[in-house]
Amino acid sequence: MPASSDGNPAAHTDARSQPLRNLWRLRPYLRPYAMEFAWLLVAALAATAASLAVPLVVQRVVDGPVARHDEAGLLRLGALALLLGVAEAVLIFIRRWTQSSSSVGMEAAIRADIYAHLQRLPAGFHDRWQSGQLLSRITSDLSVIRRFLSFGLLFLVLNLITYAAVVALLIRLHQWLGLLVAASAVPLFLISRRFARHYHAASRRMQDQQGDVATLVEETALGLRTMRAYGRGPELAARFAVGARRLHDTGIGKARLLARTSALFDLVPNLTLGAVLVAGAAAVAEGVLSIGELVAFVSLQLMLIWPVQSLGWIIANAQEAATAADRIQEVLDTPPTIVDSPHARPLDRGEVRGRLRFEGVGFRYPGTSAPVLRELDLTVEPGETMALVGATGCGKSTLLSLVPRLHEVTGGRITLDGHDVRDLRLDSLRRLVAVAFEEPTLFSMSVWENLTLGRPDAGEDEVRAALTLAQAEFAYELPWGLATRVGEQGLSLSGGQRQRLALARAVLGRPAVLVLDDPLSALDVHTEALVEAALRRVLRETATTTLLVAHRPSTVALADRVALLDDGRIVAVGTHSEMLARLPAYRAVLSAEPERRSDGVGLVRS
Ligand SMILES: Nc1ncnc2c1ncn2[C@@H]1O[C@H](COP(=O)(O)OP(=O)(O)OP(=O)(O)O)[C@@H](O)[C@H]1O
Ligand SMILES: [Mg+2]
Repeated sequence: MPASSDGNPAAHTDARSQPLRNLWRLRPYLRPYAMEFAWLLVAALAATAASLAVPLVVQRVVDGPVARHDEAGLLRLGALALLLGVAEAVLIFIRRWTQSSSSVGMEAAIRADIYAHLQRLPAGFHDRWQSGQLLSRITSDLSVIRRFLSFGLLFLVLNLITYAAVVALLIRLHQWLGLLVAASAVPLFLISRRFARHYHAASRRMQDQQGDVATLVEETALGLRTMRAYGRGPELAARFAVGARRLHDTGIGKARLLARTSALFDLVPNLTLGAVLVAGAAAVAEGVLSIGELVAFVSLQLMLIWPVQSLGWIIANAQEAATAADRIQEVLDTPPTIVDSPHARPLDRGEVRGRLRFEGVGFRYPGTSAPVLRELDLTVEPGETMALVGATGCGKSTLLSLVPRLHEVTGGRITLDGHDVRDLRLDSLRRLVAVAFEEPTLFSMSVWENLTLGRPDAGEDEVRAALTLAQAEFAYELPWGLATRVGEQGLSLSGGQRQRLALARAVLGRPAVLVLDDPLSALDVHTEALVEAALRRVLRETATTTLLVAHRPSTVALADRVALLDDGRIVAVGTHSEMLARLPAYRAVLSAEPERRSDGVGLVRS
């Protein structure tokens, strides 16, 4: 859910929610299992029919063999009752057996679709959504839906049919008593409606709060080191306690609501039963009802107690499922905005020379008022390394993210060899443009898999060449070599090791354009030298068009030319030494860097 202005997304309940419609929209996932569900319902109905027949047999027993002391008849009817009992047991077993597999399959299918959709959504979506909210949707909300589809829905249908069938039988046995029982449906309906309304609000709150707690846990896990370093443990613990407490309170509120309603659901059939017993006894005394009929009537009526009692639970389950469907559709309904245009064309690596041009590019983050970039022009020639320099927060990372279309320009265009990047197929574009971000993200998989992320078909030799180029041969020395799994975010590697692996990953695809976001940020001096050496080698030996964000003179010195970004525009382009000599603003930006290296100037390439 998008964070709301008060910073507490859980406080926000989607006013446009259409829970039942959204639940209904999940029906395509049910389709493959339609036959299974049909059989399920048939088995369940047959089991119910068998159990309903038992009181009718009892009626025959009481009014026939028992009244007449007929032993043979008693045995016959007894055997029939036994048979019905066994049939019911077998049918229930069949129902349970089929039930489990289909719902799990369905859950897996929905989950796969959400994940695929998340992958298609633009970076902007993930900026706005807390990952914990996504996490809770893809796990707990889906299990709620599965539980409803496998139990709640079945019992809802089954109980309604049972109720109708029992009431029909009761009316046939004794009209007025039967109608009395039928009338008890009115208070039941009113109670259900009120309960459903209240429970819906509570379950939405609960599921949102679950997402908040998941977000907190995730942030704690990812930020553990920062948190410890700043001694912020107690503060975060307090924040977590508040979130957990809120979740706890909502849970208790929900449980109490269910308890209160269940008590009412218990009361109604029992009151009706009492009324029937009194009226029935009077009818027997008057001789209009036989004892056997009264016994059958009461036993049938007892069969209504469970369906009515379970109503509270079923409605609760249905409401939770509807809320979950709402929350899932909120994700699925977000359209992927960055997609291939209808006339998008693929572009082969062989066809590309690598001239990258920004033509009057403007960019504004959605939901913000001021643009980050405006009317920006810049050309990077094929094979050239262009350093991008500018004050912190001026939009350098933003500019880079526009090249592989992680965000979409809001004005002007970016071209690669004259092709607007929006006219290229996304898969082509992203193969041609390799990116390494400031924070090199490694996934919790093997080094090999991390390296070949963009090129799953890469061979042994190519990987070795990329590792050599990025001076990341250390990967072979890891305990299991390239098969070593690196932890979540690659935390088990040092910053410099991660940077070099990210660099190797970027060059592995032999991209036409390299986009590097300050690969030297957050490194100590020793590591910095290692990565810088790797970078220098990459730039020299690949002759790839490169756009490189740099903060330090030594990194800038690796570039052929430098562009200075200020106030959303490129205000100057030239060689490092020219710019140093000519532009006080340029000197100011570079010297503002805390770890300025005195040898930077000496490394200028011309
Ligand atoms: N997802 C986002 N949504 C809204 N605004 C954003 C988003 N990301 C960045 N910004 C804003 O855009 C501006 C440019 O950010 P950007 O990350 O591009 O700066 P930068 O030049 O890379 O900074 P640094 O040198 O510190 O890395 C900043 O003012 C930032 O607050
Ligand atoms: Mg940045």
